[in-house]
Amino acid sequence: MNDLKHRIIMDVDTGSDDAVALILAMLDETFDLQGITSVNGNLEVKLTTENTLRMVEFCNKQDTVKVYRGADLPIVSTLLPNTPQSMAPIPRREGESVPEGLHHASHIEVPKFTIKEEDDSAVVWLINKLRHEDDKSITIVAVGPLTNIALAMRSDPRIIPKIKRIVIMGGADAYAGSNSMAAEFNVWIDPEAMEIVLQSGCDITVVPLDATFSSYITPSDAEEIRAIGTPEANKVADLILKYGTAKMLKGRDEDELRIPIHDALALCSVRYPEVLFTRDVCCHVDTSHGIAYGETVIDKRRGITANQPNCRFAFKADRELFISWIKDVLIRAKDR
Ligand code: RIB
Ligand code: CA
Repeated sequence: MNDLKHRIIMDVDTGSDDAVALILAMLDETFDLQGITSVNGNLEVKLTTENTLRMVEFCNKQDTVKVYRGADLPIVSTLLPNTPQSMAPIPRREGESVPEGLHHASHIEVPKFTIKEEDDSAVVWLINKLRHEDDKSITIVAVGPLTNIALAMRSDPRIIPKIKRIVIMGGADAYAGSNSMAAEFNVWIDPEAMEIVLQSGCDITVVPLDATFSSYITPSDAEEIRAIGTPEANKVADLILKYGTAKMLKGRDEDELRIPIHDALALCSVRYPEVLFTRDVCCHVDTSHGIAYGETVIDKRRGITANQPNCRFAFKADRELFISWIKDVLIRAKDR
């Protein structure tokens, strides 16, 4: 059992699976959550920030956990003419309602939030926080597009040696996300940002769709989680089902939805690295602007011609361990 305290920063684009990860990060006492940065991704950054604030207040952690609003646009992709990213919905005008219904990343249903984001932007706070770290003890858990992390690295490279590890929910080997034939969503939104981080020399673990799809949660699992009987367990079950219903993730011969709660698996791997089955590989992002823009490409050459590895890439995950961690965190929180 790996029960050392982990000092973490979470970078999120809060939609439903980010929200599950946030609840678990705030309830699992082996995590020391140093702060949360929000980024454009599932929704425009105003809304991902609001959803993040909702989750902090829902967990009653507003006195100790602060939220810093980040980048509202990717570094390059929306500048390009006629790429799908550049034709993404224009950020909603002030006050325009968020589409409720099936989209998993609409406003998260929790009581109205009253807390506000901090004055510092995400990149400013990341640089100041990491610059003043004496020991290399902070793990960044990045579960949205990598825009904030890449901008902070480019703005002040002195932070790079201060980062213990970066765990990224993103990328894919044998899968793609719903927006592209080749790329997973977080990388697809900002391919150049992911490539900047991959080239940083940091200790990087990539938690791709291959791992998150293999550690799916079913509606029956979600109801077992709900049966723990706390408001947090009920909210986690709701969020799992909301994500699954929105994505209708059903295999051809499955009678049940197989719901990948991507971001929570990335967080779980900080505490239980053994939840992931990884290989050290050389991984880069296709930043040309063709059909595979945003694809994470792994060097599959055997032997000495392969490039030096730059990350630990998870090809599979332990579904049982992942689900038992979720239940364990929620049950322990109930008994507190
Ligand atoms: O592809 C899955 C990732 O994209 C998750 O982090 C989800 O929240 C979205 O950001
Ligand atoms: Ca996310």
